[in-house]
Amino acid sequence: MSSSPAAGCETHGGDDIHKVSRLVCDFSVTTNALGPVPGALHATRRLLDEIEISAVSGLLSSKPGFDSDGLAAVASCPSVEHYPQREDEELQKLTATFLRGEERSEETQQQLIFGNGASELIDLLARAAPAGDFCLNPHTEVQYREYQRACLNTGRKMVDSPKDASIICLVNPNNPTGDFWERAEMEAWISDNAPPGSWVIVDESMLFWAGPDWQDRGVSAEFVDAMRKRHIQIFLVQSWTKIFACTGLRIGTVLCPTIEKRKQLQSMQVPWSVTVFARTYLKAAMKDTEYLQRTWAATPKWREHMVTRLQRLHPSWKFLGHPWLSWVWIDTGDPGIADSVYQTALACGCPVRHASYGYSKPSMLRIAVRRPYDFSVLYQALLQRECHSMSKVQAPFGTSADVNPSVVEGVRLVHIDDLKPHEEVLTDRAGKLQEYVRDLPVKILPAIIVDSQYQVVIDGHHRLEMFREAGMTIVPVVSVNYEHEDILVNPVGIRPEMSKEMVIGTALKGKTLAPKSTQHMVRSRGGALLPLIVLAPQIAELYHS
Ligand SMILES: Cc1ncc(COP(=O)(O)O)c(C=O)c1O
Repeated sequence: MSSSPAAGCETHGGDDIHKVSRLVCDFSVTTNALGPVPGALHATRRLLDEIEISAVSGLLSSKPGFDSDGLAAVASCPSVEHYPQREDEELQKLTATFLRGEERSEETQQQLIFGNGASELIDLLARAAPAGDFCLNPHTEVQYREYQRACLNTGRKMVDSPKDASIICLVNPNNPTGDFWERAEMEAWISDNAPPGSWVIVDESMLFWAGPDWQDRGVSAEFVDAMRKRHIQIFLVQSWTKIFACTGLRIGTVLCPTIEKRKQLQSMQVPWSVTVFARTYLKAAMKDTEYLQRTWAATPKWREHMVTRLQRLHPSWKFLGHPWLSWVWIDTGDPGIADSVYQTALACGCPVRHASYGYSKPSMLRIAVRRPYDFSVLYQALLQRECHSMSKVQAPFGTSADVNPSVVEGVRLVHIDDLKPHEEVLTDRAGKLQEYVRDLPVKILPAIIVDSQYQVVIDGHHRLEMFREAGMTIVPVVSVNYEHEDILVNPVGIRPEMSKEMVIGTALKGKTLAPKSTQHMVRSRGGALLPLIVLAPQIAELYHS
């Protein structure tokens, strides 16, 4: 049984962004990778458009805050200066319909309570539940810790068996492990294990990612009604700060089993706990159905993009959780590695969640799904970390060719399997290159040149093959702006005719052109056409045994 965390200091991923000097992208919080809902941001901003600031003369003069003529600024902004309405009917209706559909909207509205993030409501539930002990989902290693904290704060003891608990806290899908019970399994478990008189809390904050049928996969209204008849009260918790990426605004709900239970909770809640900004944001977000469609399309794709690369880099790590979730739960198998990755992530401005803090899982990390563009920053730092930890890198980075600076984007490390060749290699030539390198006293070769956008190899297919044969997994490459007009493919006179689109298109389809189909040149600032290889810095062996 774990000990009580001190009140008010439960560790959260979101705290990590404040530890980095320059935040690039936050991977520590499981918010939607699409970022805030654009229409909702506009709606919220409009609240601040209604501002009037006027100068009033003849008030007090020469006091701090007043100018020398005795003019004082008097401001007005309704959304800032007034208390919000106690009840927001439009918000209740939209939320009820969102959760339970048009048909059940009216009764659902009456059962909803809004709070300053789900966290406030979790605390409220723990205070309001019948006296007695609490239990967490016994089938999951760790779960979102606010339930434990809230229950401990009300003097409850944690017990292992739900039969001995008056409050049972389940998180489904479970943050951080990514476990998920489908509706039938969850309902059967509650039905078999919850004792009469108990409150069962099911946190479904992460269910919205499950796809267009998410409403059919959470606990059903019919089941809540059936359990109520057996004196088991089911409360469904929703945080809106993750799915609509608004953790700074704070808004969450609980769908209570009855109107009476909603009233009971409300009587213990501070008034006006949800700001007008949060309400306005949520209303607009709920109207934007396309945002969810985009979420379901992008999240699994981006998650897979991240997992594929991390897996290449760390084949021994375990990647856990359902493919549609907004995060990956990772077992690195080693607290030292988890710590080093966490520090690397902080240093590159991309904090990840270290499960040592808060979850007492020192070898685990939780990484939020982010778009590939943002992930490339974290990935680059992890590639470098791995290189440094495997050996003493000998790669002098940089390139000094006299070309327009916008031709070269930089020298980076890549995983060899991330590269997409566009041309076949001549085996004979690859063999010769190997022989040549074998005879070199110090192994130095020009870096491979790749297109920065799609990671297509532009120059260096034979070198790539050789690196692969040598068992190298991480290689430095020169990343070029392939679209730049100073890079040419098969300039006039070189056969066959070739276009950049053809080069990229072939590689992206996973196909290759015949060996030596392309010859790439770069125009120097002086106007000379030079072989593209002049852009490649000489790199020494990456790994020394
Ligand atoms: C499962 C779950 N429930 C509730 C919350 C609380 O969210 P908030 O208080 O921001 O609404 C979180 C936050 O991470 C969570 O993961």
